[in-house]
Amino acid sequence: MSLTPLNARPLAAKTLAGAPLPGTLAGPPPEVVKSPGALSLEADDALFAAERPVRDPLAVTSALLYLDAITVSFDGFRALNALSLVIGDKEMRAIIGPNGAGKTTMMDVITGKTRPNTGTALFAGVHDLTTLDEAAIAELGIGRKFQTPTVFDMHTVEDNILLAVKADRRAFANIRWHRTAYEKARVDELLERVRLQDHRFRRAGDLSHGQKQWLEIGMLLAQEPRLLLVDEPAAGMTDQETADTAVLLREIAKTRSVVVVEHDMQFVRDLDVKVTVLHEGSVLAEGPLDQVSADERVIEVYLGR
Ligand SMILES: Nc1ncnc2c1ncn2[C@@H]1O[C@H](COP(=O)(O)OP(=O)(O)O)[C@@H](O)[C@H]1O
Ligand SMILES: [Mg+2]
Repeated sequence: MSLTPLNARPLAAKTLAGAPLPGTLAGPPPEVVKSPGALSLEADDALFAAERPVRDPLAVTSALLYLDAITVSFDGFRALNALSLVIGDKEMRAIIGPNGAGKTTMMDVITGKTRPNTGTALFAGVHDLTTLDEAAIAELGIGRKFQTPTVFDMHTVEDNILLAVKADRRAFANIRWHRTAYEKARVDELLERVRLQDHRFRRAGDLSHGQKQWLEIGMLLAQEPRLLLVDEPAAGMTDQETADTAVLLREIAKTRSVVVVEHDMQFVRDLDVKVTVLHEGSVLAEGPLDQVSADERVIEVYLGR
């Protein structure tokens, strides 16, 4: 597919602090887009086709995340090689593939940590991720969970969540007592969402590995990201924690998009979502887990015989 017209089109200025995009209000009324449209790489799969949200009239794609022909070279080695990937709004996608396939590098590109050499990366159809820095991308509503939990061990579970809530820069009541009540309610809600209500007064450092991962997910949810990237959450977890994490992510994906990189095939099965197989920096296969795991090329490079 040619993206020349897309690239040639000037991208709208990003909207920090929720300022309306120029022309947004003057544009045609937003429409509900049910088909991904000509630009989308998604084709088949009515099974996974989520109903599209009301679309920004300036959007050039209805996908929440749109990557096309992304290449990242490290000293001539292509960690990503013409990678194209489209994630819908409120879609959860599992990414699998051998070590070195480029999974983490892909997340680095989405979050602005690594600049691609070439390619298109759009968020919500209007934000060019290749021109924004990490802070601006986080502010757009892209949250990332790294492999190692980064919680404050010396603080209680509750205080970790509270710190994240206080860092939430979206607008809300600024009268002090009002704000305090809001924050308290948010902390309770988030603790419940990640099932740590009964551990709120414990030191984060005393939690199990799985609980620490959930705490960090709770801290990320404090910002209500529209897209959550999760890199190998099940690594180091017990079987029960892994199963619980799949349930938690499925719940989270009801209200936002989630991209999960994971090697644990039982966990990927539990997620029950479309799977993308990365290999040597590009997409090798995509589809339901049963379909991709029956794919000869996937068996060859990843699953083994
Ligand atoms: N900063 C870097 N400098 C050089 N090579 C890198 C860098 N980051 C990743 N790579 C290489 O790019 C390839 C893809 O890495 P990565 O994205 O971490 O793979 P995955 O997460 O799928 O295991 C690997 O061969 C890795 O060694
Ligand atoms: Mg990795």
